[in-house]
Amino acid sequence: MDKKEPILELNHVSKTFTTEDGREVRAVKDASLAVYPGECIGIVGESGCGKSTIARLITRIIDPSGGEIILAGENIADKKGRKLKAVYRDIQMVYQDPYSVFSPRAGIGTFLTDGLVYHGIMTRSEALKEVGKLLEMVDLPAELADRLPHQLSGGQLQRVVIARAVSIRPKVILLDEATSALDVSVQKQVLNLLMRLKKEYNLTYVFIGHDLAVVRSIADRIAVMYAGLIVEEMDSDELEQAEHPYTKKLLQSVFSVNDRNRKVIPIENMSVSDENLQTLGCPFQPRCPEALPACKNACPMLRMTKSGHKAACLALE
Ligand SMILES: Nc1ncnc2c1ncn2[C@@H]1O[C@H](COP(=O)(O)OP(=O)(O)OP(=O)(O)O)[C@@H](O)[C@H]1O
Ligand code: SF4
Ligand SMILES: [Mg+2]
Repeated sequence: MDKKEPILELNHVSKTFTTEDGREVRAVKDASLAVYPGECIGIVGESGCGKSTIARLITRIIDPSGGEIILAGENIADKKGRKLKAVYRDIQMVYQDPYSVFSPRAGIGTFLTDGLVYHGIMTRSEALKEVGKLLEMVDLPAELADRLPHQLSGGQLQRVVIARAVSIRPKVILLDEATSALDVSVQKQVLNLLMRLKKEYNLTYVFIGHDLAVVRSIADRIAVMYAGLIVEEMDSDELEQAEHPYTKKLLQSVFSVNDRNRKVIPIENMSVSDENLQTLGCPFQPRCPEALPACKNACPMLRMTKSGHKAACLALE
């Protein structure tokens, strides 16, 4: 893995939405992250913490409120209109619900060729000759090319979406809860497929999920988000040594893939969007067992800790 030059970099990226009733929601706050070629970086956190907003910013479906998004050395944060077409080719997205990306009347073969044709990689007739190979690449029979989306299972459709994403040869593939809707056994098969393809084609993934055990099973590195902030970043195999109080709670609250007997301690319910409204202090402060008096007034920055993690916590500074 080439660790020298990131293929994708977020530098102090933020996104504030204004709701219909005029409230401001700071969905992503000052996020900085580097993604290196051939690695899978996992982004994990509770519902509403800003994961999909980060995905939509990276894919430039929405504009950032501030910061830089550097793709292969070029800032794409302020690109508009036709200049975004190359970005849409270089960053492919796989969503949770595969049915949402298919046109119900277009066959699987057409879906698989659309991207290649749209991006000028092949003519339609050239692309149609590749369909069988693309299906086989994701362990599906070539005969499925003539089927309609409703004639495939959710797991098969997600394989087709993955095949299309890989066929474009993008610089980065963003997977937003891409296996979350699948049955556990199918989820495992799709995760294995993603890992095989990553190795075979030296793919770079940003894998977004709410399930820490799933994210850990595929990611080389993990960024933990809370209320719009990246609060900790570390190698996947160092997760047990997490230092941020939120990551530690998250670890206690999930079944580990390797430890089915781990006791599940639910994280108390509190809407993360409520915390997005909090402007002063650490957003985790109302739930933090290690909070200091200063945590009410100062928002911690992501910094290198003594053990070499990056964490945003006043108690670790
Ligand atoms: N278009 C929008 N307008 C207003 N608020 C928005 C908009 N999109 C997202 N938000 C808010 O931004 C915050 C982050 O949302 P986001 O969808 O990124 O969370 P998430 O981590 O992906 O959650 P989930 O795990 O449920 O998918 C939430 O408070 C959400 O309500
Ligand atoms: S900054 Fe304070 S409140 Fe926030 S996680 Fe650290 S100790 Fe807890
Ligand atoms: Mg989401």
